Amino acid sequence: MENETLKICKYGDDVLKTKAGEIRDITRQVADLAAAMARTMHQAPGIGLAAPQVGESLRLVTVDLSVGENPEEMLILINPRIVESEGDETSEEGCLSVPGYSLPIKRRLRIMLQATRIDGSELRAEFEGLKARVLQHEIDHLNGMLIVDRVSTLKRTLIRKEISHKIKSGQW
Ligand code: NI
Repeated sequence: MENETLKICKYGDDVLKTKAGEIRDITRQVADLAAAMARTMHQAPGIGLAAPQVGESLRLVTVDLSVGENPEEMLILINPRIVESEGDETSEEGCLSVPGYSLPIKRRLRIMLQATRIDGSELRAEFEGLKARVLQHEIDHLNGMLIVDRVSTLKRTLIRKEISHKIKSGQW
């Protein structure tokens, strides 16, 4: 149980299209889920994970740009929301739920974020660059949005066709 990792849901799974619910109480289950998400993210390996990606429709995300190398880098955020933002930057992004794809996504360069920490305290902090990008990506997951939903209609149609072909042939 201690070292168990969770199954990561992939594009096509309804939970990824669903707006996740607010967390009202930080119960033991929420804390256990956050710990299991951190392990799953590190093992993948990935730099961010949102609860809907492991089948839990809750507003909980984990982010760690060090992929487990530096414990101080680990962010576990409950009900995260962006209250201010500025600047734009387009860069390639991948997603553990859309394996094999790297897509150019426009994001805000700097964000002011508010969230609740796992100990119940409130966080209000500014992030920029890659960390701001990952946080925006994970918050998108909480709103049922994937990188595939942020590219042009033409590109999205092509990717959807490719993925449904992969699903049909059992390669997804
Ligand atoms: Ni993702």
